[in-house]
Amino acid sequence: MRILEVKNLTKTYETDDNHYKALDNLSFSVRKGEFVAIMGASGSGKSTLLNILSTLDFASSGLVLLGNEDLFQLSEKQRADFRSQHLSFIFQNYNLLGNLTLQENIALALTVKGHPKQEIYQLVLETAAKLGIEKLLAKYPHQVSGGQRQRCACARALATSPDLILADEPTGALDTQSTKQLLTILESMNETLGTTILLVTHDAIAASHCQRVLFMQDGQFVNELHTKDQTQKESFHQILELMGALGDDAHVS
Ligand SMILES: Nc1ncnc2c1ncn2[C@@H]1O[C@H](COP(=O)(O)OP(=O)(O)OP(=O)(O)O)[C@@H](O)[C@H]1O
Ligand SMILES: [Mg+2]
Repeated sequence: MRILEVKNLTKTYETDDNHYKALDNLSFSVRKGEFVAIMGASGSGKSTLLNILSTLDFASSGLVLLGNEDLFQLSEKQRADFRSQHLSFIFQNYNLLGNLTLQENIALALTVKGHPKQEIYQLVLETAAKLGIEKLLAKYPHQVSGGQRQRCACARALATSPDLILADEPTGALDTQSTKQLLTILESMNETLGTTILLVTHDAIAASHCQRVLFMQDGQFVNELHTKDQTQKESFHQILELMGALGDDAHVS
């Protein structure tokens, strides 16, 4: 079953003296339960695409169907509702609220989604335990490490059982160990809960945990790897090879 369908998506940024096509007639789809990576050089349009899928930005033309909803036909209020009901986000800079504890940060997403109050605490505890941050719940984001903050952002994304998780460079600010942990968590969320994940990354290791890798160049998809039936190591080498062939300036970290 398809959860996401993107058709002929174009985004042109207009400035005073210029216009720049960041997405160029892009089409692709994602099936429910897939874990898909999007790779591409800096400036190729990855975040632009994710911002549109997140309902935070509009395209210049084209169509996005998420579930059964045509995103560009929704009112502002409907978009906000749709976001809180169906989507979760994990960003490179965590986007946790600094004046709330980790517990409150996770709980907030559940409150916004409309979960019954009496269930929220238990859900926060369960999700935090999955991510190994149950002992840190009373702390504020500035009192924990970057990796722990990112695990909290992950817990927040996971707690609401979203239909789709959109992650833009979630491992960008993490060390190797925390990166590994986060990828393992995302992988197991995908496997055990069937969560659909779209992961933007520069990192061939991160992408090698996914089932499919889309390569973006100048606002278009120029290649695609199906890595589902391969070991992670095989996928990693294939991704590196293709990155080399595409002359991608993305680094491998
Ligand atoms: N608000 C904006 N106004 C004008 N141009 C923009 C704007 N946002 C992005 N761009 C341009 O659109 C192109 C795509 O940007 P985008 O942020 O999607 O790239 P990216 O693939 O996410 O890059 P990175 O890997 O560096 O995060 C870039 O050339 C960028 O300069
Ligand atoms: Mg980006």
